[in-house]
This record gives sequence, C-alpha cells and structure tokens, in this order.
Amino acid sequence: MIDVLLGLQWGDEGKGKIVDYLAAKYDVIARFQGGPNAGHTLYVNGNKVVLHTIPSGVFQSHCLNLIGNGVVIDPVTLQKEIHTIVALQPDLLSRLFISQRAHLIIPTHRALDAASEASKGQEKIGSTLKGIGPAYMDKTGRNGLRVGDVLSKDFDKKYEQLKQKHLQMLKQYEHQVDWQEWEAQFFAAIDHLRTLQIVNAEYWIDNQLKAGKKILAEGAQGSMLDIDFGTYPFVTSSNTIAAGVCNGLGVAPSTIGEVYGITKAYCTRVGGGPFPTELLDDTGEALRKAGSEFGATTGRPRRCGWIDLVALRYAVMLSGVTKLIITKTDVLDQFSPIQAAVAYKVDGVETKELPYDLCSVSVEPVYQSFAGWGKPISECKTYEETSQDFKDYCRFVEQYLQTKIGYVSNGTGRDQLLVIS
Ligand code: GDP
Ligand code: IMO
Ligand code: MG
Repeated sequence: MIDVLLGLQWGDEGKGKIVDYLAAKYDVIARFQGGPNAGHTLYVNGNKVVLHTIPSGVFQSHCLNLIGNGVVIDPVTLQKEIHTIVALQPDLLSRLFISQRAHLIIPTHRALDAASEASKGQEKIGSTLKGIGPAYMDKTGRNGLRVGDVLSKDFDKKYEQLKQKHLQMLKQYEHQVDWQEWEAQFFAAIDHLRTLQIVNAEYWIDNQLKAGKKILAEGAQGSMLDIDFGTYPFVTSSNTIAAGVCNGLGVAPSTIGEVYGITKAYCTRVGGGPFPTELLDDTGEALRKAGSEFGATTGRPRRCGWIDLVALRYAVMLSGVTKLIITKTDVLDQFSPIQAAVAYKVDGVETKELPYDLCSVSVEPVYQSFAGWGKPISECKTYEETSQDFKDYCRFVEQYLQTKIGYVSNGTGRDQLLVIS
C-alpha cells in the first residue's frame, strides 16, 4: 500500500519533520509533485537540514527514496542538495532513485519565472522564482525536457531548441534576467545527474508494491496551493492534493491507503494571495516570532493568522484525509485566547463553503474562541499529560473536520511528537 502525507494549508505545515519521523515505519519515501520551491526542514542530530527535491526519508538509513515523474527537477539545486546530505549521510546515493519521466527546470525557466513575476507588479504571485510555473507549462505544452533525455545523444540539441523558444518569449518582457551565468553550472549538474540512479519509476514502484514494501508519498506545498483547488491564480503549478499521487508516481488509486493531512495549530502563507484569517496586527507579529515563521526556501517572512477550519474542511474533503496531524502546538503556548475560523461571511452571508474566488469577494471569518492551553504543551511528553483545554480543542477540531487526530507535534525535534491514535 501507499500511504500519503499532505500539507492541508498553504505549505510549510511541518511535512519534513513528520515524514522524517514516520519514515521509520516505511521502506520507500516518494516525492510526487512540486520541485525546489519546497523547503522541508529536518533536524538530524541537532543539525538543521532543508530538503528541496530529495524526499525526507534520507535520514532513516533503511529507506529508499524516489523522486517521481510528477516532480520538476533543477539539476543544479539537486546536485547542491546531494553534496550537503552526503556529508551527513554517506550512503545517500545508493538509496536515491529518480524517475526518467520527471521534467527538468532549465536556466531560462528560472529567467521566465522572474520576468513574468516582475511584469505583474503588485499582482505578482510571489513565486519562489525557482522556475516551477514555466517548467510545468512546458510539460503540459509538450515541449519539456525530461530526466531520461539526459541519456540521449540529442540532449544538447533538445536543450538548445527549448532555450531558443524561451529566448523569444523573454523578449516580450521589459525585465531582463542574466541567465547565461547559470548555463555552465547547469551542464555540470547534468553530467552529475547522468551518474545517478535513473529508473523506469512506475515499474520500480510496482515492483516495490509487489514485494510488499510500505511506501509513503510525501507531498510538497499545501492543498490551498493546488493548481485546481487552491486560491487560483495564487497557487503553484501542480496538484498538491492526494489525487496528485497517482499522476505523480504512476500508481493506481486502489493502492492508496492512509492519507495523513498536516495542519499547523494556526496558519501561515508565504507569497501573495488571499488569506482570510491573516492577522496584520501585533498578534500576527507575535505568531511569526514565536513560530520563527520565515520561509525555508526564500527566507521571506511568512504571513500569519488563526487556524482556518473552513479551508481545512475543504482540504480534508478533497484528499479524503484519514488522519490529522497538528504541528507547532507549542507556538501557541503563550497565546490565550486562541481563535479558530468556523465559518466565513462572504459579502455578508454566512457559509462554511470555500468561495470559488476568494479574491473577488469580501470574506470575513467567523471565529470561535478557545481558552489557551493553560499548561505549556512543549513540556508534555504524552498526549495524556496535556491540559484539558488542549484536549477539548482537539475534540472540537476532530468533530468539525470529521477526522481523527493521529499525532500532535510540540517542537522541532524528531521525537517531539505526541501520539494520539
Ligand atoms: P514543510 O515545508 O511542511 O516541511 O515545513 P517547513 O520546514 O518549511 O516549515 C516548518 C517549520 O516549523 C520548520 O522550521 C520546522 O523545524 C518547524 N516545526 C515543525 N514542527 C514543529 C513543531 O511542532 N513546533 C515548532 N516549534 N516548530 C516546528
Ligand atoms: P513546502 O513544500 C510555502 C508558494 C509561493 C507562491 C506560490 C507559487 O515547503 O510547503 P511557485 O514557486 O510554486 O511558483 O510559487 O506558492 N509556495 C510555497 N509556500 N511552502 C512551499 O513549499 C511552497 N512552494 C510554493 O510562495 O506563493
Ligand atoms: Mg516548507
């Protein structure tokens, strides 16, 4: 079976930490979408590591790690990441596999991302500028370059054709980007890529399943950044919900087992776009400070606000989440009361449904107030030790979302996790 782990908000819910913990129970960890826009933070023996393309199972030495066909790979970032991880985990390369169908991000994709964002001015998406959107555009536009192409003798020709197409496109933008200096690095990274284990991943994963291996699919970004169901156009360019696993790994829906959905005990967003529960006041600032809410990939300050149960219920519905994981509960230790949005007033009318276009309506969250935790959760070693107020809050969230909470995370460390069910 393939279990799935997804972010239910706008990303950065703590997926890296949880995958690193859960990986102890799995044989294979597989990324199925996204690319180096992701930044998954892990603490390994006290060292902070941020993973962008490599699955978060690399530090459990029995785990194989697959970068699936749904991922877009920047060979330069991948090479740098491998270099960093090998220093900590020397056997990495023997446990890393890459789908030949995964698409490549080339230097001019990054230039197009930057030029397109600059041309939008105030309306910009707030992209991570890693070339994600342009690379997925070439994939669906049937122009893309895939990992398997690096093994073909025509690779340089194919690259040149795609680059020329991009150069024509870049001419329409005022903002010019100096991408040429990235090209030498890119070709060095392509040489490195050729030395890695490039596999026919859909057969590879099928063989793992037939051998009875346990697989965990690791999502990147979050459900509200999904290309179809997120806060379009302020989204990323892939399907971040559970459905993306089938496309992104080449597996049948019947192979999917547990779907873990992760949410913070509050909410953050980095980049532009609607965020109904955003706090632009001192409380928002206090959340940012207490939660160290700065982007793992870009270092940008994350926008902060209260948990949004309306959006969470939507995300749980879209992916059929079977188990919830609530992270960063310790960040709320110092807050009382704690608010949770339980409905929206959309143009004055109360609803529990997410509107089609959050950008074009006026949305006012309806909050339910909860006492703070009382006892600091960061000091608790088991769920039983937590305060009654915290337990009541958990029951409320479970009832609202009609889903059981499996784990509560109360710190950055691998073992700072309270098991509930
Ligand atoms: P991801 O993209 O979902 O993997 O999340 P990020 O790594 O971008 O951001 C999550 C941040 O929160 C990281 O700095 C984690 O170390 C940190 N983190 C994860 N879980 C907890 C938690 O329970 N408590 C605290 N205080 N920090 C956490
Ligand atoms: P992880 O996996 C948070 C956001 C960007 C921007 C929008 C589009 O660490 O949770 P893109 O570069 O994809 O074109 O940017 O999506 N974004 C993320 N926000 N966490 C992420 O990944 C993100 N990946 C993209 O900030 O608003
Ligand atoms: Mg992140």
